[in-house]
Amino acid sequence: MSVSTPDVVLTVSGIGKTYAQPVLTGIDLTLRRGEVLALTGENGAGKSTLSKIIGGLATPTTGQMQFLGQDYRPGSRAQAEGMGIRMVMQELNLLPTLSVAENLFLDNLPGIGGWISRKQLRKAAIVAMAQVGLDSIDPDTLVGELGIGHQQMVEIARNLIGDCHVLILDEPTAMLTTREVEMLFEQITRLQVRGVSIIYISHRLEELARVAQRIAVLRDGHLVRVEPMANYNSEQLVTLMVGRELVEHIDMGAREIGAPALTVKGLSRSDKVRDVSFEVRTGEIFGISGLIGAGRTELLRLIFGADLADSGTVALGSPAQVVSIRSPVDAVGHGIALITEDRKGEGLLLTQSISANIALGNMPVISSGGIVDNNDEHALAQRQIDAMRIRSSGPGQLVSELSGGNQQKVVIGRWLERDCSVLLFDEPTRGIDVGAKFDIYNLLGELTRQGKALVVVSSDLRELMLICDRIGVLSAGRLIETFERDSWTQDDLLAAAFAGYQKHDALLNEAAPRDLP
Ligand SMILES: Nc1ncnc2c1ncn2[C@@H]1O[C@H](COP(=O)(O)OP(=O)(O)OP(=O)(O)O)[C@@H](O)[C@H]1O
Ligand SMILES: [Mg+2]
Repeated sequence: MSVSTPDVVLTVSGIGKTYAQPVLTGIDLTLRRGEVLALTGENGAGKSTLSKIIGGLATPTTGQMQFLGQDYRPGSRAQAEGMGIRMVMQELNLLPTLSVAENLFLDNLPGIGGWISRKQLRKAAIVAMAQVGLDSIDPDTLVGELGIGHQQMVEIARNLIGDCHVLILDEPTAMLTTREVEMLFEQITRLQVRGVSIIYISHRLEELARVAQRIAVLRDGHLVRVEPMANYNSEQLVTLMVGRELVEHIDMGAREIGAPALTVKGLSRSDKVRDVSFEVRTGEIFGISGLIGAGRTELLRLIFGADLADSGTVALGSPAQVVSIRSPVDAVGHGIALITEDRKGEGLLLTQSISANIALGNMPVISSGGIVDNNDEHALAQRQIDAMRIRSSGPGQLVSELSGGNQQKVVIGRWLERDCSVLLFDEPTRGIDVGAKFDIYNLLGELTRQGKALVVVSSDLRELMLICDRIGVLSAGRLIETFERDSWTQDDLLAAAFAGYQKHDALLNEAAPRDLP
């Protein structure tokens, strides 16, 4: 029996969940009014499952919950939201063919007598978006046209609208850069002041230390600890989470940086990517940093032929040979791979098995004359499952049943088996736990030792500084500056990320001073 004190908003008692196997066991937890509780644990530990149970998206196999002193058994997400329990999911849940405004107010369209007033909708959307710093986006933009970072901000904004007692944020910052993270933190403080309780899930431990008052750690579906955050420094947090010590140091091994492998010259597409030139050598990791919307993903897509450039060239090898890349098929044919950030949209076939997904990029390896050999497909998948410690019941498990971080590993695993000389990684460790991140860094190191050239886009500056030989900073579509290893600081990189916008804004102001009120 739980004792209900006015301080406690939500009580979880003996909650368990079993699919084919138990994934959560005997979870006891209370959430206090106005607190931020950090929920952490390795990929597949059960964080999202617990969140979904609280948010009405999954039914527990055992246990009960109480909300504001009453029995709480949500039958659906809508029911939980109706009671003020809301959730920003790890996998985005927006409708790409609707506008930003429509997505924001989908369940709650402002209108008179059943008719939606466009004007009202626009106005309300502008207010909601300003809260998360998206005031530069027209609310009539289709969500599908936004980059994934902006989509995540819309998802967050959607959940800040209306009455809320409990807000669950499942990896809200996985695709956000420093500036957006700061805006989210401001909102969190505001909500706390209003008495909203927040469950905050993240693999970025430095964020947890900043926002949370208490920390709960899940390991293999068991809650191993709930304690005040102040009891831990960041190293202790890592040990607590992973159950072993990790050093924030990675040995990328002896490797040789050779001749240019990829040479990009003057690549441009509308105002998204402007006149970008750089080269990457064999055995080198070239990092790309920048704010959301700076053109990082767009640049990779241009190189890969997923979008077509207005001007500019991509050349391979040394001496550089310009290649014509009009589609991803051309790119793959030339030995270029793109590991996308949007695993749900572009990366994975969710309703298929791990082995089918890994085989997808590797048909020539395992098929002869168009016939896929199932044994080879399994062996291939098993190799990646072992190499990357993909947590699953085996190669036959459906990808939709994997945790978010493990899905990401499948996306990466697919390309590691393929013979590519240039690999473009877009947020490769998004949503991946600290321990597994180091597995991925080791894999990247292995690829460079094989003489491959790597381009890595990441929102995590510390990650780039850890693994890259050089870092180029994109700002408002331009490659503003390139830093050599050991000649960069976090401040330099950040300053460069903002530089393009200041110039851009200054130009705009110069061009149209009279139009300003
Ligand atoms: N529908 C399902 N069927 C079978 N197993 C499932 C299903 N959904 C989740 N699981 C399993 O439950 C376990 C916990 O998954 P969950 O998504 O809660 O992990 P997580 O802690 O959120 O991990 P991550 O950090 O990767 O997001 C995983 O082993 C996963 O494979
Ligand atoms: Mg999860």
